[in-house]
Amino acid sequence: MDTFEAIESRRSVKSFDINHKMSTDEITKILESAVLSPTSYNIQNWRFVIVTNQKIKDRLSELSYGQRQVSEASLVIILCADLNSWDKYPERYWQNIPEESRIALVDSLRNSYRGKSQQQRDEAMRSCGMAAQTIMLAARSMGYDTCPMKGFDYDGVGKLIHLPDDHVISMMVVVGKKAKEPGPRGGQLPLSDVVFENSF
Ligand SMILES: Cc1cc2nc3c(=O)[nH]c(=O)nc-3n(C[C@H](O)[C@H](O)[C@H](O)COP(=O)(O)O)c2cc1C
Repeated sequence: MDTFEAIESRRSVKSFDINHKMSTDEITKILESAVLSPTSYNIQNWRFVIVTNQKIKDRLSELSYGQRQVSEASLVIILCADLNSWDKYPERYWQNIPEESRIALVDSLRNSYRGKSQQQRDEAMRSCGMAAQTIMLAARSMGYDTCPMKGFDYDGVGKLIHLPDDHVISMMVVVGKKAKEPGPRGGQLPLSDVVFENSF
């Protein structure tokens, strides 16, 4: 599927074929695409919890205030991030470059995040946002549909997945075979409302 077709046909789908199972290869393809998304300093601070087990999906649906797409989807991806990834052997993010450049980059990376909790959290949300969009477009180009979600009990989901203390949850993306067409788009704002040339 052409990139623009994937972008234009991506919708937040709320009803999936509960009997459809995605293959391990398909799930891997989506995740391999996700990790090609850009991150600041190539920090790759995202962590993906993938759920295909029906009982856990049902529990996640309860924690999502009964939203059915969570239990009906073939795959639920909970996009989390490690707030301390900047301090966990960051040399591994630049293993392919010459040592001198690596040392300089890692030094700069540490200075960007050390003691800056807001920056660490912002980076978590930026990275997961990038990955979420990649997941949705990759899934669409494979003939699947998705729904990005923040409508769930974050503490409850954190407990369910044993979220480490220094990690946060950004959002969930559910993936599956569409069972029902979504309603018409809510309506996009015109470019003239959201685009400003050179300054506001
Ligand atoms: C961060 C985020 C959280 C969302 N949370 C939910 C959700 O909890 N439940 C839901 O049904 N849709 C959710 N949506 C889907 C939006 O309602 C949807 O993207 C928007 O209405 C535009 O529709 P479209 O995605 O079909 O273009 C979420 C979307 C985003 C980006």
